[in-house]
Amino acid sequence: MSDTKYPPSAEFAANAHIDAAKYQEMYDASINDPAAFWGEHGKRIDWIKPFTKVKDVSFDLGSVAINWYSDGTLNVAANCIDRHLATRSDQTAIIWEPDSPDEDALHITYQQLHDNTCRMANVLKGLGVKRGDRVVLYLPMIPEAAYAMLACARIGAIHSIVFAGFSPDALGARVNGCDAKVVITADHAPRGGRATKLKDNVNQALLHDVDDVKCLVVKRTGGQIAWREGLDFWWHEEAAKVSAECPPEEMNAEDPLFILYTSGSTGQPKGVVHSSGGYLVYAAMTQELVFDYHPGDVFWCTADVGWVTGHSYIVYGPLANGATTIMFEGVPTYPDASRFWQVCEKHKVNQFYTAPTALRALMGQGNSFVEKCDLSDLKVLGTVGEPINPEAWTWYNEVVGKGKCPIVDTWWQTETGGHLMTPLPGATATKPGSCTTPFFGVQPVILDPTSGTEIHETEAEGVLCIKDSWPGQMRTVYGDHERFEKTYFSDYKGYYFTGDGCRRDADGYYWITGRVDDVINVSGHRMGTAEVESALVAHAQVAEAAVVGYPHDIKGQGIYAYVTLMNDVEPTDELRKELEKWVRTEIGPIAKPDLIQWAPGLPKTRSGKIMRRILRKIAEDDFGALGDTSTLADPSVVDELIENRMNRG
Ligand code: WTA
Repeated sequence: MSDTKYPPSAEFAANAHIDAAKYQEMYDASINDPAAFWGEHGKRIDWIKPFTKVKDVSFDLGSVAINWYSDGTLNVAANCIDRHLATRSDQTAIIWEPDSPDEDALHITYQQLHDNTCRMANVLKGLGVKRGDRVVLYLPMIPEAAYAMLACARIGAIHSIVFAGFSPDALGARVNGCDAKVVITADHAPRGGRATKLKDNVNQALLHDVDDVKCLVVKRTGGQIAWREGLDFWWHEEAAKVSAECPPEEMNAEDPLFILYTSGSTGQPKGVVHSSGGYLVYAAMTQELVFDYHPGDVFWCTADVGWVTGHSYIVYGPLANGATTIMFEGVPTYPDASRFWQVCEKHKVNQFYTAPTALRALMGQGNSFVEKCDLSDLKVLGTVGEPINPEAWTWYNEVVGKGKCPIVDTWWQTETGGHLMTPLPGATATKPGSCTTPFFGVQPVILDPTSGTEIHETEAEGVLCIKDSWPGQMRTVYGDHERFEKTYFSDYKGYYFTGDGCRRDADGYYWITGRVDDVINVSGHRMGTAEVESALVAHAQVAEAAVVGYPHDIKGQGIYAYVTLMNDVEPTDELRKELEKWVRTEIGPIAKPDLIQWAPGLPKTRSGKIMRRILRKIAEDDFGALGDTSTLADPSVVDELIENRMNRG
């Protein structure tokens, strides 16, 4: 960790929306009178019926309720499209950059976005989708993904996007979980020069679970697919039959806009529910201020729309602001490690937002891939998803940003809808590895993990909670409000519990130290160790499994699985490979264990609880500091595990 500070240049600060003095003034106002502050900023979007109430929130266990702008009505799609048509109908809304650089990019204007979104909305209506119904999107990074999201918003349907890297089983669970009426997918999804057979995955998922769900299929490659007559519909055929006008539904601010499944420390992923009004205000405001977005700028967030970052910073935030946003279908290393930088040059990108794992991978390929591209349009660089190590930060700053682009290290979560702690590029002196200070209206607190009391000293370390609500906060877990309360409001009463550990330094800067629960962060993808464990134990030859994270140079964290086999099963390399493949098909490639250690026994307390602390230490190759093992039922298993550990650092 580094304590060197990088202040914004005087020139940058002078042209920025927010400088240091303005940040302080606005932050103080946002805390002293949240209703006045958010009442004012609520006006950055268009309301059909303006709100008169701003905030109505309780974090009290048993009656957690989060309401913002609750008597206002609006339509999110109209905010992202229609209200820009008078002035920007010919401006590019979305630049689509395909997987292969040999295929042409598309420039989709706000007018075309309007027409395509309305067509998609009319097609969905024709398939029987009504206000409040759920629609699952399982799509590559193609413009139709944005049309589909906005079409749902337009007719008041709730979308739930499933990342296209998830397996049929994971997809099926999510389709069932929200009782979706329609799944929107594509024939094949090209990525990094290979194609995933998305439609076939959908068929498999629906076969297992519900087989009367309709499917709207986008023709992306023209590849071979299996068709379900009467249930499957081609998007291009249906689109040709409907009008390019569809009146937007008048929605309440608190009507759900989308569900997005995310991993927690226990059980299966939970459906995070976001609102329409508060979410949009927060996504729009953070996109403009955190990236210092100005009209005419080209904004590129490299995330996938399957994650929250894609929701807020490819689609909703930028489009609500009338921005030009890039949607990239490919990967950073295809055809080679200069792809990101070539796309920046080609489309004259001004703000670039990516994950540390991508930067670490690209940094390892050498500087020439960056240096051969003209990056002179870059103004602001951002990172998200995991802590960034100072080496990667410095490389980003010097090699990519040429020392002239402020870096915004944005800390937030699926649950938070938008950034909660981040530098503002014209206001905040950055420190490599720190997400610095809170966004407006956000009150981070550090609690002592055992007593649960707030640590008031400036220098502090403990668990990170948030004291009060902000408009982008999730509202509930889909179909299970009790789980929502239990997960986020029961451990530390009166606060929103983030699940992250955090340190505050003498300057009041925040440094995320990682999850304090059983969630790991692999290549910026969030995963519950419990999910990987339950996939492993579903295999007939596995008796027991325990999964932990361990430090990984590129991925941030790797997946380390301890596996106890059934009595008569021989541990072999073939079986190890089979288990890797098994997890890929149960969850998806992102969940494949990096290391599998055969464990004849797992360290357990006398009451049978697995001591994960010990397993983490062994996986980290740091077994000198195992701590107290005297409560173990059989301490000798620890020696055996150390002896055969897989990560010898
Ligand atoms: C981690 C992604 C350090 C953190 C938007 C959080 C970060 C989890 C940062 C949420 C950051 C996200 N620095 N850690 N800038 N951003 N995290 O829900 O542990 O996929 O709780 O949302 O990622 O991951 P999620």
